[in-house]
Amino acid sequence: PQSLRALGAAIDLPIGSALTPQDITDFAAVSGGQFSVVMGANAMKWQTVEPAQGSYDWTDADQLMAFAKANHQLVRGHTLLWHNQLPTWLTDGVAAGTITKSKLWALLEKHIFTEVGRYKGRIWQWDVANEFFTDANPSGINPNDWWIQQLGESVIPQAFKWAHQADPHALLFYNDYNVTGEDGTNAKSDAVYAWATKQRDAGVPIHGIGTQAHLDTQYGFDPQRFQQDLERFGKAGFKVAVTEADVRTFVDAAATQVPTDSLAQFAQPFEYSAMLQAAISVPAVISFTVWGWTDSLSWVPGTFSGEGYACLYDVNQQPKQAYYTLQKDL
Ligand code: XIL
Repeated sequence: PQSLRALGAAIDLPIGSALTPQDITDFAAVSGGQFSVVMGANAMKWQTVEPAQGSYDWTDADQLMAFAKANHQLVRGHTLLWHNQLPTWLTDGVAAGTITKSKLWALLEKHIFTEVGRYKGRIWQWDVANEFFTDANPSGINPNDWWIQQLGESVIPQAFKWAHQADPHALLFYNDYNVTGEDGTNAKSDAVYAWATKQRDAGVPIHGIGTQAHLDTQYGFDPQRFQQDLERFGKAGFKVAVTEADVRTFVDAAATQVPTDSLAQFAQPFEYSAMLQAAISVPAVISFTVWGWTDSLSWVPGTFSGEGYACLYDVNQQPKQAYYTLQKDL
């Protein structure tokens, strides 16, 4: 059987993964061989690229770009405007009042032009804004979000405009979780839909909607809802990307990640498969990327206490049933 990237190429659907520096240095064969689109798990976040004010560190981002070039991979840039993983000099400066509102606008503009400009012409899709909506029902832009608190809601369209000026050919995405029915209510999906269409109609250069698609076997999952949401974003004229797919579950220990619920072994390939099949069936979907491919480097054990087993490959980098299922679906 062929690699995921070869199978995806045959149906014109790039298949990819987020990569950490270790995915590149230690597991280049899979990271390069299986995927045709990559993104930095942390490499392009503000905290990583500008750890001290005015002093840039492009080590990880450049490594990712070089790896992608060597392996003929597309790149998704992730992410320019997000409340997490901001440099402490920035958040501390704002808290102390040394970074005023007008300075913060200027710093954001500089951040976007510097980073997007550095990789101009080499990034296929940028996740410009990430995770701005609440999970409440009805949902809306989170008034307590750090950026919204500092600069108000216009910060999001402004970021899109700057990113577009910095690289007019990049596809610009709004990216979030629970926007494809994962939460059951679909309230957040509705809110993002209403906001994104309104912004776009007002001339904001927002080209795509990214659904992170972090699933958990304990919450159940509605494949039909997932597909319908991809479809309606597509019908509204947006490109759509499944950006951070993974399917976590409770496990024995972080080192081994054996599911404690034996049904998870069946639920996981089923949920991965349902997501990919939906992506394949909706023409607007232009890429399907997972948030890391091996359980040994997954963000899940460090973030969700007691959970793991979220990826296509196990802790020893051996393909799991989920991998073989995607191979068949492609
Ligand atoms: C995660 C990274 O994988 C971790 O290494 C880091 O500690 C925290 O962020 N949604 C996103 C990603 O958009 O940027 C997050 O990545 C996972 C959730």
